[in-house]
Amino acid sequence: PDTISVSELANRMAERTADVVKELMKLGIMATATQTIDGETAELVVSEFGHKVQRVSESDIEIGLTGDDDAEDNLQPRPPVVTVMGHVDHGKTSLLDAIRRTDVAAGESGGITQHIGAYQITTANKNVITFIDTPGHEAFTEMRSRGANITDIVVLVVAADDSVMAQTVEAINHAKAAGCPVIVAVNKCDKPEADPQRVRNDLLQQEIVTEDFGGDVLCVDVSAHTGLGLDKLEEAIMLQSELLELRANPDRNADGVVIESKVERGRGSVATLLVQRGTLRQGDIFVIGAESGRVRALLDDRGQKLKEAGPGQPVEILGLNGTPMAGDNCVVVETEARAREIAEYRTRRNKDHDAARGARGSVEQMLSAI
Ligand code: GTP
Ligand code: MG
Repeated sequence: PDTISVSELANRMAERTADVVKELMKLGIMATATQTIDGETAELVVSEFGHKVQRVSESDIEIGLTGDDDAEDNLQPRPPVVTVMGHVDHGKTSLLDAIRRTDVAAGESGGITQHIGAYQITTANKNVITFIDTPGHEAFTEMRSRGANITDIVVLVVAADDSVMAQTVEAINHAKAAGCPVIVAVNKCDKPEADPQRVRNDLLQQEIVTEDFGGDVLCVDVSAHTGLGLDKLEEAIMLQSELLELRANPDRNADGVVIESKVERGRGSVATLLVQRGTLRQGDIFVIGAESGRVRALLDDRGQKLKEAGPGQPVEILGLNGTPMAGDNCVVVETEARAREIAEYRTRRNKDHDAARGARGSVEQMLSAI
């Protein structure tokens, strides 16, 4: 028969048996380590752990560990994902717009520039970089708390006429918590009252030690208005990115994270997705959060249709049945039945979580009422 024991399943996934038991409990199945579960249930558990299922035969479930798919030999360099953060009005969006104008791949063909909050450029030296406008610090924290680490490098924008402010410090703390290296872009250096040296001094208090002070934090003077230093900033990003040795397997089913989503008239639900592994293609069946769907179209930040999107690439996708949340995980699966199964499972799990939270809330209310 089509079964597997809980401990064997845990073994093959290289997960702790206790964690598998817990996951099963969320499905409403009480099973001990030695008990067997059916193949369907096992598949659900496996995909929830982020592994890939391979059925070798009806009676055996071979679990391809994520590590197999992402084995050393399959990895290829991928572009760095850079999030731009900083105090309000210090010029994050202006800087992104200015960098976007340096894109050598855009050419004359480019459609109308859309503000999708994420885009990819090719630098003059043929390097590809993905940029994400700060999704707001709250969204960033929310995404991280839900396990979505999207960014490799944080570009911290500090206005040279204003220096380090409250949200600059917040951004530094976010970057530290996420373990991301920081590159400082001292913006608005075209202004007569600009004092980039003061910015470097003030950053010392936040334990951001720039190169000038013998530290290892790259710091570049820029101006979004004149274009000063943008090439140096791009170079700094590539330098930092080389140290990180960023790689991913493009030849597998895609997974990624939702950066933002919205409902648009005539287009339905639209999500901006950052592909993290694999290649996403038109027609792919996916589950995002607890919604399933099929990719109807893939668009870049200029509204141009794409056939596919690889690791590190942000794309707009059409074909969703609902509106997902920033930070939601997206996985591509083989069949619609399987997509529905995972979506239903996640819905049930979310309900259980909410119920548990609700129950705790009422106990607290009871206690405080005493
Ligand atoms: P929020 O998204 O609201 O936090 O702001 P932001 O950080 O995206 O700043 P934004 O790009 O909207 O720029 C704020 C203001 O600073 C605008 O009036 C810009 O024109 C101006 N500004 C941005 N960069 C520069 C620059 O390099 N030089 C000068 N002189 N002004 C700049
Ligand atoms: Mg902005």
